[in-house]
Amino acid sequence: MNHVPVIAIDGPSGSGKGTLASRVAETLGWRLLDSGAIYRVLGLAVERAGISFENADKVSELARNLDLTFDQGRVLLGQENVADAIRTETAGNAASKVAAIPRVRQALLDWQQSYAKAPGLVADGRDMGTVVFPTAEVKIFLTASVEERALRRYKQLKEKGLSVNLAALTEEIKERDERDSGRAAAPLKAASDAWQLDSTQFSADEVYQQVMQRVYNALPESAS
Ligand code: DC
Repeated sequence: MNHVPVIAIDGPSGSGKGTLASRVAETLGWRLLDSGAIYRVLGLAVERAGISFENADKVSELARNLDLTFDQGRVLLGQENVADAIRTETAGNAASKVAAIPRVRQALLDWQQSYAKAPGLVADGRDMGTVVFPTAEVKIFLTASVEERALRRYKQLKEKGLSVNLAALTEEIKERDERDSGRAAAPLKAASDAWQLDSTQFSADEVYQQVMQRVYNALPESAS
């Protein structure tokens, strides 16, 4: 089997890694794995099934049987497009809870790894560089201060016409950070060989330019 190059982009919620990953994938013409969306879909499936997040047996059984398809911007749970439904703060928190269960992560590992196909993969998440693709050619760990991340999210939600409270949003982000970083299974942390970039002071475009520079240095063939 031919080797498929991987760019792993990890970081906390609101660091801008989603926007960055999709732009990098588009530029290179590579596949994009939004691993957070997988945990979000599972969180939604768990809620709909009326299962408690604490029930590790039932939640991991759902994970093993998750009927999930990514298809050109659509996120299908069975036949239903849940792309919008998984973008709420509630779905993000549900995702963070199911993602803390080790057997859930194990059940979703093959699915994620088999997503790497030629000509290459850009993988966005929390443990792409540490667990799922430890041999990735490029590893980026993107951070930003909690305040800046909350503000970015606040603006995004406002633009969508939703009423939001900045202080509550900041607290939610802190809570999610703690859960994602403090869990035993594949916690949010930078791989030892990741390039750590603090985006607090940079625009999305500046971050993209710096990352593409890195990508072309590490993978000169991807520039053609
Ligand atoms: O990136 P996101 O906000 O869509 O992720 C939602 C939650 O899913 C996040 O709070 C933690 C979990 N997650 C994870 O544990 N591992 C990943 N690779 C991606 C997301």
